[in-house]
Amino acid sequence: MDQLRPTLIDFHGVSMSKYFTDNWDDIQNFQARPDDVVIVTYPKAGTTWVSHILDLLYFGQTSPERQKTIPIYERVPFLEIFIPSHPKGTELADQLTTSPRLIKTHLPVQFLPKSFWEQNSRIVCVVRNAKDCAVSYYHFHRMNNVQPEPGEWSTFLKDYMDGKVVFGSWYDHVNGWWEKKETYSNLNVVFYEDLVEDSGRELDHLCSFLGLCPSPEEKESVLTKMTFENMKKNKMANYSTLTVMDQKVSPFMRKGKVGDWKNLFTVAQNEEFDKDYKEKMKNSTIKFRTEI
Ligand code: PPS
Repeated sequence: MDQLRPTLIDFHGVSMSKYFTDNWDDIQNFQARPDDVVIVTYPKAGTTWVSHILDLLYFGQTSPERQKTIPIYERVPFLEIFIPSHPKGTELADQLTTSPRLIKTHLPVQFLPKSFWEQNSRIVCVVRNAKDCAVSYYHFHRMNNVQPEPGEWSTFLKDYMDGKVVFGSWYDHVNGWWEKKETYSNLNVVFYEDLVEDSGRELDHLCSFLGLCPSPEEKESVLTKMTFENMKKNKMANYSTLTVMDQKVSPFMRKGKVGDWKNLFTVAQNEEFDKDYKEKMKNSTIKFRTEI
């Protein structure tokens, strides 16, 4: 499995791996539709959570068998992925027969295929505080054989702060998408911390952005199925069917908490991180909570 682990490449100024750039022409030429809904995130910000929620909201009533038989990565294809012996993300997206099509991407804003902008597709951007993202991404590197070797936590944290991880700098990614809100109105930002704090409230916000009006019973059903515990034991949501991930090393549904960074950051690492964060985010208006 280890031979799968890629090296980091500099791709137009962003650290990437070949698994997300080898299919670049197909990605850039992807034909979007006006009713497509794109879920965009920096890795580990809550992509799978919001993908599952949207799938339930759109199709939970009309095709409930979907959630029991089709893994999340086929219901909501990962646009840029291209791993040997696996279907390309662009092909999976093209094969979707649903309306809308739900499509996941981790691309920074400048790399999103232009067709999505031209078609004015809806975009749900999920963001999560930098510290919890770092910890979750570290454990994800350990268990996912198509990510580069993370090394020790201290090495990984430094790489993360320097943007030397796949999909580049958290700071650039988050700021890029946050600023896009000013000029592209079909973009809705969801904070992972808000979703943990009050899932019902956030579900209402999402529905109002998407123009959906679930009945109280439907909403209740989504709220039950989207809990961490239920998603963790749901084989169609927990990635247990993907062999490139070794869930014995670390489960994909790991903790699902706000503030877990406190279990890994040392006091010194935290101080250095905060200082560096302040500098890197000094011109940004986005505000995160690292505990709730
Ligand atoms: S990926 O690989 O980038 O698509 O990962 P992503 O889905 O964005 O993020 C995985 C983290 O989200 C947590 N998660 C949840 N938290 C709370 N509630 C629910 N239902 C839920 N589903 C997924 C998951 O546990 C990962 O976070 P950590 O901190 O590692 O537990």
